[in-house]
Amino acid sequence: MEIKYDFNNMMADFIGIENGISEEEINSLIKKCERIDTNLKSMRMRGEIKFFELPYQEDVVKDINDYADYIKNEFEYFIVLGIGGSALGGIALQRGLNHPYYKLLSKDKGGKNPKVFFLDNIDPDTHSGIFDVIDLKSSCFNFISKSGNTAETNAQFLIFIERLKKALGNKDIKKHVVFTTKEQNGNFRKIADEEGMKSFIIPKGVGGRFSVLSPVGLLPSAVSGININKLLEGAISMDKTCENFNIWENPAYMNGVLHYLFDTKKGKNISVMISYSDALFGIVDWYRQLLAESLGKKYSLNGEIVHTGQTPVKALGVTDHHSQLQLYIEGPNDKVITMLCVEKFKSEIEMVSHYNWIEGPSYLSGHSLNELFHAERIATEATLTKNARPNCLISLPEINEFTLGQLFYMFEIQTAFTGYLYNINPFDQPGVEEGKKFAYNLLRKNGIGNKKEEIETRKKKKYII
Ligand code: PA5
Repeated sequence: MEIKYDFNNMMADFIGIENGISEEEINSLIKKCERIDTNLKSMRMRGEIKFFELPYQEDVVKDINDYADYIKNEFEYFIVLGIGGSALGGIALQRGLNHPYYKLLSKDKGGKNPKVFFLDNIDPDTHSGIFDVIDLKSSCFNFISKSGNTAETNAQFLIFIERLKKALGNKDIKKHVVFTTKEQNGNFRKIADEEGMKSFIIPKGVGGRFSVLSPVGLLPSAVSGININKLLEGAISMDKTCENFNIWENPAYMNGVLHYLFDTKKGKNISVMISYSDALFGIVDWYRQLLAESLGKKYSLNGEIVHTGQTPVKALGVTDHHSQLQLYIEGPNDKVITMLCVEKFKSEIEMVSHYNWIEGPSYLSGHSLNELFHAERIATEATLTKNARPNCLISLPEINEFTLGQLFYMFEIQTAFTGYLYNINPFDQPGVEEGKKFAYNLLRKNGIGNKKEEIETRKKKKYII
């Protein structure tokens, strides 16, 4: 049940040396890659890169499963509040593994677990709308924030606590709230400890975008009925595969090397990921953040200005064939395309013959929707390759907890590894932190404070129509 990584169509053998990568180009990086591998392994040993250890936290997983069982018995709705890395992994898991309409399923058709909603933005209409759908008395709210201080998630906390207090009174709200936050400091940690509210810990050294296999992604998943043990087994299996320092046998390292070479040597600074599965589209969203925040950096580890990182773009096959594909095939040759596909879907739908006297439907009949999907993906792969557009394929034998665990873990290793190829820190996000500070200073009670002179909001009238 292993996922496969096929990078044939990225190679010069297939698309020419101008746009493709040669074996020599890859091999020229072998020494550098071995040094990075050794470095990553010793940082891991010293406990400096914590996401590596997440699949092995048996006690935490047991605690999550026990608590999820309690939630399943007590509540009908589980509402997750968080943003960025605190939300995208959980959303990807729900979309990837649950029935596409599971929130509408009747209990006898498998809809017995709590309905999980994610609010990962601060749109007032979305927030107001949720109250028309849920019943506060049978709702539990999971506030997720590593720092515990993020403005958006704190705002959500204020809104939902107010509603809960109004509906249930002060003393009953405790069991309706669960925090996922760091072990010490931060607003959420203080409130959880002070009020004796349930909380899960995001381990030190695990940033939001690397936290999908921590309680951040695991708790909402377990509540909705996803088998989190199998998910972690998948991650462990990928961990074993990627122990291999040989880049030719390590899919995470090879994918990192190729993207790095395309960006730095072939002028392809856009990384497109197309999912040929609705269920995997959430992973594309999650990956986009992982890539953008981890690799988009101004400074190298030596303090030089480098401005690294490909721009990640997401697409859905085949929907976006009718939107983006023309550009990918004939527009600027500045993209590397990763296709995600599934060999065996859960369902097989036949197209039965009707209206045979019209040529259109008749060529489809006798085939399945699965075959059409597959054929369109293969045709796209061939067309991209013919037009010297580098593309690779990551195929999942089927979508389940195990294969998604492999996929998440592979992309995390790839991203950490690629960060060191660029010689930048893949685990920080100083740009985002600066924006957070600006927003804080704009809103806090005593005015915009010491950042005032830095925030230039005046505009010229002549550029406003
Ligand atoms: O990946 C990251 O580190 C960020 O996207 C954070 O997850 C995001 O900014 C939210 O931060 P926090 O979890 O502290 O609320």
